[in-house]
Amino acid sequence: MKKLAWLLTTIPLYMACTPATDNASQAQLPQSTNPSADNIKAGVDYHSFSNPDEVTVTHLDIELTANFTAKVLSGSVTLDYERQTPNASSLILDTRDLAIERVTANGEAVDFNLRPADPELGAALEINLPQSASQVTIEYATSPQASGVQWLTPSQTAGKEHPFLFTQAQAVHARSFIPLQDSPQVRVTYNATIHTPPELLAVMSAANDPQTERDGEYDFTMPQPVPSYLIALAIGDLHFKPMGERTGVYAEPALLEAAAEEFADTESMLLATENTYGPYGWDRYDLLILPPSFPFGGMENPRLSFITPTVIAGDKSLVSLIAHELAHSWSGNTVTNATWRDLWLNEGFTTYLTYRIMEMIYGNDRYRMEAVLGYQDLQNDIAALDDNDEILAIDLRGRNPDDVFSNIPYEKGALFLRELEHKVGRDNFDQFLLNYFDHFAFKSITTDEFVAYLNKTLVADYPEQLNEERIQQWIFEPGIPAGAPVPESDAFMLVDQARQNWLAGEKAASDIKTAGWTVHEWLYFLNNMPAQLSDEQLAELDSAFGLTASTNNEIAHSWLMIAVHNEYQPAYNRLYNYLVTIGRNKLVKPLYRELSKTPEGKAFAQKAFAEARPGYHPLTIKANEGFVE
Ligand code: BES
Ligand code: ZN
Repeated sequence: MKKLAWLLTTIPLYMACTPATDNASQAQLPQSTNPSADNIKAGVDYHSFSNPDEVTVTHLDIELTANFTAKVLSGSVTLDYERQTPNASSLILDTRDLAIERVTANGEAVDFNLRPADPELGAALEINLPQSASQVTIEYATSPQASGVQWLTPSQTAGKEHPFLFTQAQAVHARSFIPLQDSPQVRVTYNATIHTPPELLAVMSAANDPQTERDGEYDFTMPQPVPSYLIALAIGDLHFKPMGERTGVYAEPALLEAAAEEFADTESMLLATENTYGPYGWDRYDLLILPPSFPFGGMENPRLSFITPTVIAGDKSLVSLIAHELAHSWSGNTVTNATWRDLWLNEGFTTYLTYRIMEMIYGNDRYRMEAVLGYQDLQNDIAALDDNDEILAIDLRGRNPDDVFSNIPYEKGALFLRELEHKVGRDNFDQFLLNYFDHFAFKSITTDEFVAYLNKTLVADYPEQLNEERIQQWIFEPGIPAGAPVPESDAFMLVDQARQNWLAGEKAASDIKTAGWTVHEWLYFLNNMPAQLSDEQLAELDSAFGLTASTNNEIAHSWLMIAVHNEYQPAYNRLYNYLVTIGRNKLVKPLYRELSKTPEGKAFAQKAFAEARPGYHPLTIKANEGFVE
């Protein structure tokens, strides 16, 4: 009975989670050309309850106080809006686990209704708009369990003395700390005032003043309109160090120097990207180094990318992450996916740009190695995923975008663009991208709008080289089209040779000439080992190369995957330590998944997870708890 009641309150809402009406602008959008999903409406955001077609929010004034004892952000947001339909009488916002205290317009209370919550998408907040008003103020507080906020105790930080808070809004979590139209097709400018304990500094995805007085009250402005998933806040014992004219890093004191050295090439990356794809549109580009529980590698919050500390390797080997988050300033933040189905427009273009930036800064050999590693990740996903999840313009109806994270939008998207580049020539393709970023600047676009633009421009200019069917195949069909580019690396051929010689017993591990190997060669060496290795072989590798003790988190990850698969016990202390100190989901999830395959592995995973859980981000908990049940 109870279960039925739950179904009745949740399912119908979830199924109906589309904007309330199809307004003129959405109706004009081209219909999806995906034959297997022709009833998907391009441009409809299936992950927001909001009604931007009727009333569009254009600006936010946020005022919040961070209470680290209660783990609550409380205060108000004032939303400026424009009516799209003259008689629109209600504004529908997204919320999740918010306590809504009061809604006012022109100083007077207005009626609102918080609908029952959907477990994945939260609760729609319906506000009755008085005829005369053009803004409403909502007083509210977040929940300590807010899915988009992580509150860390001092012991979970590098300095161990001060607490830390950070938000992560993408894909659908901004609604857990601000009631708003939480859809990437709605762009807002924002101002914010954040109150913190006086010894801490707040930073946001907005104009940050590195010289600001540390007094517990911080003001921010974001003058360019951004989608809600790019609104971000962090608070901690943060300090700033410049890296270049427009670039710098915020971090806890213990990490500041190391981070500034590791990411010293950020300014050159910025200049190189501008040279190729047009001016950087966001004024400064700074990095914020988060505690290790940050669930992603990086997040492209405008003007201030959020970065995991797990890439501070000491040798710049993992800085493609910075190139990636920087590239989003063009692909993602300037031209934005209109719905989560169109995520590949953000991530595929960004992955393509990442490779190009890495080549410009570090040369062709490194680019080739990174491209092969990315291609292998893609092939592994294609081997494992259902057909529908291999489609760039993916059908996410009824699913939480968080649960569908894969290399498809990234590496398949990038490979598609690489093919276009090869067909029309690099300079011509760069010119196309430059025009594209300019044409759609500060717009949120659908896959179909991109295809229409591509057909009108590049395909029309190069009819001999390009054709529309091939493009349709790339975007709307699973797998990799036959004849697609295949990345290759000479350096890796030598690694293949070394691995084979060792596996055949022709060469001892200690005789492999690894002196000149970069992290990429190590990753390729390890990732392409056969599934089964004997204890003797594992011990030989470990003693020759000190793999269990590797301080490079990516190498350690690849090695630990092998160790778990082969139940190589000498690595398990390291494994335990890795799982309880790192919360980056890409690094820990595959380990939990692999561990969960045997009863002993599962027991080990349960122990590590129980210890790690209080320090994990809500997204990392959600992504892994299934493996330890
Ligand atoms: N924007 C993404 C992270 C993201 C994507 C969060 C979808 C939520 C939903 C970010 O730019 C990203 O791609 N991060 C990667 C970086 C990697 C591919 C270099 C990551 O965190 O691993
Ligand atoms: Zn990205």
